[in-house]
Amino acid sequence: MRRYVVTGGAGFIGSHLCQALLERGDAVVCVDDFSSGSLDNVADFARSGRFELVEGSTYEVLGSVGGTVDAVAHLASPASPVDYLAHPLETLAAGSSGTEAALRLAHAHGARFLLSSTSEVYGDPLVHPQQENYWGNVNPIGPRSVYDESKRFSEALTAAYRRTYGVDTGIVRIFNTYGPRLRPGDGRVVSNQSRSTVMAARRVAFAISTTWYGPCSPCSTPTPLDRSTSATPLSCGSRSWPSW
Ligand SMILES: NC(=O)c1ccc[n+]([C@@H]2O[C@H](COP(=O)([O-])OP(=O)(O)OC[C@H]3O[C@@H](n4cnc5c(N)ncnc54)[C@H](O)[C@@H]3O)[C@@H](O)[C@H]2O)c1
Repeated sequence: MRRYVVTGGAGFIGSHLCQALLERGDAVVCVDDFSSGSLDNVADFARSGRFELVEGSTYEVLGSVGGTVDAVAHLASPASPVDYLAHPLETLAAGSSGTEAALRLAHAHGARFLLSSTSEVYGDPLVHPQQENYWGNVNPIGPRSVYDESKRFSEALTAAYRRTYGVDTGIVRIFNTYGPRLRPGDGRVVSNQSRSTVMAARRVAFAISTTWYGPCSPCSTPTPLDRSTSATPLSCGSRSWPSW
């Protein structure tokens, strides 16, 4: 049994990750400040006897996580425009101090580290579809920069920990993803569209079978999140995505 630390584990994607890891028999330490996540998303997980919840900001509580840590999946960050435009400083802290705390934890335990980044690192891209060798077209001072730049800094920090300390890192740039537990009306494209058709969107999300997360390959089409395949959680086509 492996023990995973999942930051942002009470959020939309993070809770599905926790669930997938628990379902395959692993232990999970979920670290979340519940700024946009929900206790409802993880309430059932305690029954497994392999789920721990640590409440607080990554940059405040990750240092106190003890015991064995085999891998750290770092998802904690405001993710929707509604959240990061309302909380610009917290967003920058999550991507800077928060990511550093998560990397430090992985380094201290010789654990693998996975960063959930975003297609927003391309900014307002001039190339479609974006490939991994495209560096983007980013405004570093606009209102949305708090999110884009926090993710770009997170990626740079992750790469630096890999080069400097040899931490086994992976970065995935997630494109628009939707599915169960996505908060209606949280400002993301699909979320807004689906507000009036929530149930229809949920049926589609359940019906379409794809790999976990799916949107690792460059695309801009909203992609349903589906845990129902037997694909290893945290594995898909991207070469930077570790197969844990
Ligand atoms: N959903 C998407 O389409 C999408 C697209 C690109 C990238 N991402 C990335 O995936 C990750 C998860 O996104 P999501 O859609 O599940 O969003 P979400 O808002 O549902 O989940 C984020 C979680 O992180 C927690 N959190 C935020 N800041 C924190 C902090 N400082 N300390 C501890 N917990 C904190 C929130 O409470 C929440 O539970 C994020 O890193 C996001 O940037 C998501």
